Amino acid sequence: MKKILLRGGSIVSESGVQVSDVLIGLDGKIEMIKKTIQDHKDAEVSDVSGKLLFPLLIDCHVHFREPGMEHKATMQTEAAAALAGGVGTVCEMPNTIPPTVTIAALADKVRRAEKIAGCRMLFFFGVTEAAHLLTLKELWTGTSMELRRLKQHCCGVKLYLDHSTGDQKVDGGIVEEIFRACAELKIPLVAHCEDPEINSKFQKSNSSTDVSAHSSMRPPESEAASIEYAIGMVRKTGAAFHIAHLSTKQGIDLVRAAKKEGLPVTCEVAPHHLFLTADDYASLGTFAKMNPPLRSGEHRDALWKGIEDGTVDCIATDHAPHTKDEKLSGEPLKAPSGVPGVETMLPLLLSVAAGKWPSVSGKRVTGSGKFTYTDILRLCFINPNRIFSLGASGIAEKNPAKIVIVDPTKEWLIEAKNLHSKCGWTPYEGWRVTGKIGQVIAK
Ligand code: DOR
Ligand code: ZN
Repeated sequence: MKKILLRGGSIVSESGVQVSDVLIGLDGKIEMIKKTIQDHKDAEVSDVSGKLLFPLLIDCHVHFREPGMEHKATMQTEAAAALAGGVGTVCEMPNTIPPTVTIAALADKVRRAEKIAGCRMLFFFGVTEAAHLLTLKELWTGTSMELRRLKQHCCGVKLYLDHSTGDQKVDGGIVEEIFRACAELKIPLVAHCEDPEINSKFQKSNSSTDVSAHSSMRPPESEAASIEYAIGMVRKTGAAFHIAHLSTKQGIDLVRAAKKEGLPVTCEVAPHHLFLTADDYASLGTFAKMNPPLRSGEHRDALWKGIEDGTVDCIATDHAPHTKDEKLSGEPLKAPSGVPGVETMLPLLLSVAAGKWPSVSGKRVTGSGKFTYTDILRLCFINPNRIFSLGASGIAEKNPAKIVIVDPTKEWLIEAKNLHSKCGWTPYEGWRVTGKIGQVIAK
């Protein structure tokens, strides 16, 4: 075994991009970062000039399907996809079988995750009824070794304000109590914001069988009403609240106003809402079906604006693999919702930072002209690390070396056959992207 000397790479940091050498010791920790480090006889030198070095990114919203839906995906397959995508920490959602609403279910996931090398997995605890809230309190305040250990692997609470995959809609009567408990115990609280009544009304009035009707059956006003309701809860209770996969202009406006008001509200957007619109049903069919659904270009543009002005805190994939068969069989509107994304997020974002809009045609559709590599770091590492207190390692001396090295100029085509998710498809098939992930150091 030899030390590793990464020579001449550009480290992406909060303050910009800095060319430095990085020496990684035999213990896997960063021994030295310096403009120029002399050749070491016991170090293997790797020339990474012209390459960017990011800390392994954080994806604070994934569905890895294990246990219970291993035909769609497993922790092993999706952790491989995450690492290949430069993601080294994931926060996994509770809509598995069984759902993560008991100590036993959380303990089971933790046990499984411990067998997976390289990709660190943390788990959201789900609450759909009062009993789960009691268990959550026990988990957060329990003093036994076992509970304290499990809490370390729990990144917060996930609420579904309407049904989605897994039918985990929370009992509306206990929402305020959940917000109060999370405020009191300082538990990060995340919600899928869609309004059950508005969705139900639009579902009932729909007569189309085309998959594109999915977007009108879960309309923008449903997300807006739900976010408004949840922000009202934050005002009442003081809970730190994070909105999952925000997808609408109204949602962005509400979060912008809440932040201005000084409320502890944060949000994430998903790559599919940044790079696809409802127009993509025409070519993707049910492979473009997810919750919340694809919106018009106006909404997509508002999300990019929200990124540009700091309203958006994180980009997270909502990586939600389903098999091709499940997507293709039966009535389109009954196809399961969700798309994979953990392996394609970084290349898509690198492309925008390189000033090249990624798509099949290569035509720049929208997007911020100011999007930078530092923005990727902020949205996919610094902010999720802070919001969920994840303690992930940045690129600094004495930290474990968890680094992804990318070639920011290399163009390539996204093809599912080269990706790692068990589902075997991607909504970005054939897209030309600029920015290729090379070595992933993830000891
Ligand atoms: O599209 C989605 N897929 N949205 C969700 O809320 C859940 C997810 C899944 O688990 O498939
Ligand atoms: Zn999700």
